[in-house]
Amino acid sequence: MDTVFHRGRRLRRSPQLRALVRETAPLLAEELIMPYFVVETDDQSFRKEVASMPGQYQLSLGQLEGQVEQAVDNGLGAVLLFGIPASKDAQASAAYAENGIVQEAVRLLKRRWPQLVVITDVCLCEYMSHGHCGILTPHGAVLNDETLPLLAKTAVSHARAGADMVAPSDMMDGRVAAIRQALDAVGFVQTPVLSYAVKYASAYYGPFRDAAESAPASGDRKSYQMDSANAREALLEARADVAEGADALIIKPAGPYGDIIRLVRDAVDVPLCAYQVSGEYSMICAAGQNGWIDQKAVMLESLLGLKRAGADMLITYFAEGILRQGLAR
Ligand code: PBG
Ligand code: ZN
Repeated sequence: MDTVFHRGRRLRRSPQLRALVRETAPLLAEELIMPYFVVETDDQSFRKEVASMPGQYQLSLGQLEGQVEQAVDNGLGAVLLFGIPASKDAQASAAYAENGIVQEAVRLLKRRWPQLVVITDVCLCEYMSHGHCGILTPHGAVLNDETLPLLAKTAVSHARAGADMVAPSDMMDGRVAAIRQALDAVGFVQTPVLSYAVKYASAYYGPFRDAAESAPASGDRKSYQMDSANAREALLEARADVAEGADALIIKPAGPYGDIIRLVRDAVDVPLCAYQVSGEYSMICAAGQNGWIDQKAVMLESLLGLKRAGADMLITYFAEGILRQGLAR
């Protein structure tokens, strides 16, 4: 009898056959980046679980060191740092203070683990009294060009502390060029810019704003972060950042934007990072805790999907857990 239909099951008959024809490699330890929230406090025992992110903590410097030590022992190679300052103002001065919390955290980690890749999130929202990512007018508008020097100062202060890469997440226009220029001007020509080039105004950031205490006091971020309905615009943003000197790009959120990861992957040649954001993490944890899904399996499937979409690196709050459980090679 002639074969009249596709017998896809032939190559699925055993684990060995499935492995032989598998298109996407399993997770590697070296492509995972773990975010940490570091709190400026004298209490070195300070450690507070984020209510909406089970297993994630706000950490003092002392606690950060212990936490990273375990993770590094388990094979962690890269971290992304967020700071929670002791005080905020309308100029975000704690963001670029020489002895700011992120700057101190970078020094601490690089002193102990020179090989660890330390990436810093460059933004002002955690340091602004109003919680926006740029300078605010009395009428509530976020100023673009006036914000750029503050972002550049912040990035330079991170590089001075020893950051291996700076990752601007503010979505002001022209910030990659401003940061590149500022870094070069003081000799940090070798510090790469990992730009959050494609960052959507997303409700999936909700839990993060608890963790980083960075929710805007009024309004939203829609005048600077992208409209989630737009795909073509992602190419404009990605190409603009590459033209301004970005060395690698971040797309975020990740899971609901797999089409965007693929689109950008096919259009630009720099390395791409997918950021599985707080809401994606919390939803998987919540369903897992309820016994509604197999948390471990869904976690791995969600990340494999990002690699399949074309991501080279993954920022995920699951990074520590994956390494602890030996789920990455
Ligand atoms: C700061 C920043 C945010 C995230 C990363 N950097 C929050 C925001 O833009 O509101 C979100 C990360 C997450 O949800 O895990 N601009
Ligand atoms: Zn911000």
